[in-house]
Amino acid sequence: MAYHPFGAGSRICIGEDFAWLEATLLLSSLSRRYRIQADPGFPGVSPAITLRPGGPVPALVTRRPAPAPVG
Ligand code: HEM
Repeated sequence: MAYHPFGAGSRICIGEDFAWLEATLLLSSLSRRYRIQADPGFPGVSPAITLRPGGPVPALVTRRPAPAPVG
């Protein structure tokens, strides 16, 4: 139970698989256009009703060069 953003037990989130799929697609789409470098000083986690970062997660976001046209 170190990582439980979707809860656990009989009331565990029924949308977990969908959420993972959506998040993966979103991140891959963003990663094509932007480079995201997280600050190495991760603030830890704050376990509350949901698991969240313990503080701000600073990151450097830079635009990638436009991909070459296909064809
Ligand atoms: C990043 C996305 C999501 C997170 C972090 C999240 C998180 C959670 C959490 C923490 C719970 C409570 C679990 C518990 O009580 O132990 C929950 C319940 C629930 N979630 Fe999600 N959820 C997400 C996305 C979704 C999506 C996409 C759907 C539906 C398409 C969904 C539907 C539900 C439902 C219906 C419940 C109530 C389940 C029950 O009480 O039996 N969630 N979710």
